[in-house]
Amino acid sequence: MDRITLVDIFEHPITQKYVKRAGLSHAISTAFYAYDYAVEYNVNPDLAVKAAFLHDIGHYTWYENGKWNYTLYKENDIHAIKGAERAHKLLVRLGENPVHAKKIALAILLHTDSYLPGGQLELEPLQKVVALADSADEEPGGLHHYKKMSDITAIKKLKELDHKIEHNETSNHSFQKNVTTPQRRLS
Ligand SMILES: [Fe+2]
Ligand SMILES: [Fe+2]
Repeated sequence: MDRITLVDIFEHPITQKYVKRAGLSHAISTAFYAYDYAVEYNVNPDLAVKAAFLHDIGHYTWYENGKWNYTLYKENDIHAIKGAERAHKLLVRLGENPVHAKKIALAILLHTDSYLPGGQLELEPLQKVVALADSADEEPGGLHHYKKMSDITAIKKLKELDHKIEHNETSNHSFQKNVTTPQRRLS
């Protein structure tokens, strides 16, 4: 079976609607970080990059008078749960290997702990890679969700990642890693 590419995923209407809602630039940037972390932690880069690209596909916009309301968000958000299910359905429809689709969905489910009561999760390496990649692109006040990227740039970057995955490259991505914001409660 041919590999389902990031460009295949990008072009699907579900991705167009929901990944763009939470920010295309953030999704792609997180996917690039995930590739690097996957190499570092010896995790399957295809799974890590797909989970990272789709990690915020479950977001709903918590707006009030044109502004994001973090209190509303914290009280009501379940984007990781919604995203895991949405991404799983999308991947299965596209023909992704079902075992891989499950692993990707679990990594999305666990990419943030913002919806969970206190306590610590023991993350598997793939899940850790996706959470780290998300944190690496985070900006204060959730600004990472508002960064703009055109479809043309997005496809170019996703093709670059598809190429790396298919040719097993150890990489150096073109994004500046954000090392100052390790907390991930609003991601
Ligand atoms: Fe998130
Ligand atoms: Fe995120």
